[in-house]
Amino acid sequence: MVAGKRLPRKKASQTVERTLILLKPDCVQRRLCGKVISRFEDKALNIVALKLLNVTPELAKQHYAEHVAKPFYPGLEAFITASPVVAMVLEGLEAIRVVRDMLGATNGLKAAAGTIRGDYSSSRQMNLVHASDGPEAAAREIALYFHANELCPYTPCLTPWLKAGDE
Ligand code: CMP
Repeated sequence: MVAGKRLPRKKASQTVERTLILLKPDCVQRRLCGKVISRFEDKALNIVALKLLNVTPELAKQHYAEHVAKPFYPGLEAFITASPVVAMVLEGLEAIRVVRDMLGATNGLKAAAGTIRGDYSSSRQMNLVHASDGPEAAAREIALYFHANELCPYTPCLTPWLKAGDE
């Protein structure tokens, strides 16, 4: 930087994204839904859709299409269909990456302390929460669990207090 001269501050390219979250059967059975939802709310992510449902084997195969041929798939399908899940759509700036960071590594035993899995899970399969891993997956997964008219976007009144105008 030239002494005495200020460079104009760059505006980061931040995108409002939506991501599909499943609070898996272990999360529901262990009564951890409230704690997990609180963490998303504390981060000021918007919940724009939410429901309790049973995942059928057909829906599991569609959702986990990329894993169907893997050796662990039969166990994963048995687990995800064993008990109700909570499906949610979260919305926010860079929500896909932000939520994946909040979850931590897939295996709860390896996930960093302070992440949701790091704090509450000790399992690779029973890792409490699913979140979309990219924009294409998010669009596909949201459409699997929700009709367009089930999404309720809104502008939260705290928006001006979440970040400065020039960020
Ligand atoms: P999720 O983020 O929902 O995406 C795929 C899921 O498969 C993953 O979380 C785990 O629940 C499960 N999974 C991934 N790898 C394994 C594995 N090696 N053995 C058993 N389950 C796995």
